[in-house]
Amino acid sequence: MRVEKLPDLEAVSRAGAEEFARLLRASTGTFRVALSGGSTPKRMHELLSAMGREALPWDRVELWFGDERTVPPDHPDSNYGMAKRTLIDPLRLSQVHRMEGERDAVQAAADYERALVTAAGAPPVLDLVFLGMGPDGHTASLFPGSPAVGERQRYVVANPVDSPVAKGKTTRITLTVPALCAARHVRFLVAGADKAHVLGEVLQGPRGRYPSQLVEGSDVVWCVDQAAAKELR
Ligand code: 6PG
Repeated sequence: MRVEKLPDLEAVSRAGAEEFARLLRASTGTFRVALSGGSTPKRMHELLSAMGREALPWDRVELWFGDERTVPPDHPDSNYGMAKRTLIDPLRLSQVHRMEGERDAVQAAADYERALVTAAGAPPVLDLVFLGMGPDGHTASLFPGSPAVGERQRYVVANPVDSPVAKGKTTRITLTVPALCAARHVRFLVAGADKAHVLGEVLQGPRGRYPSQLVEGSDVVWCVDQAAAKELR
């Protein structure tokens, strides 16, 4: 695990885009990427789109998602919707596997898991997973105290969540810890002072307290900005 401290969200976004490009160029064959939700990845998507379709071998890229809210794709809270506006449409990408947040979450999660395992095996080996972190230490839609945090058999589940960070009681669809830990490369993008205290605890505190701490693997990098890194020694 490595931590990269960068000046601000723009630098974190640029680092994410450069890592995407570097790892894609270094790969052969299909390159499976899971996108993160929330607001932080938006700028990275815009930077990748600004590079233009010809800049990278997008025909080898399959887009997947780390989690989704149980809303339709055109809803303002849809993670797919955000990616569609900032990356998929600008680059005219077609190999996109979205989580169907508008359907029954248990069924949608099972169908997504089946598609992911068919494409990437069991456990599914994604080439690159982007993740964010909430001010409560959640990542993807693995919220502290929610059932999916302890899931070790499944790779995609519907997760009942009751958290102010998730805007109250709701259900999310999320990749699980086994799926996230099987990824070849993981890049956390974290920015903002509201993340500083929990980031200090997640990276320097006792293990196993926060869902973000459960994501381990051969190549996990935290790209964090100065504001979020304020409590890092
Ligand atoms: C989601 C995300 C979630 C996100 C964090 C950080 O669907 O909400 O996948 O895990 O990464 O909540 O969100 P921000 O980037 O908006 O701070």
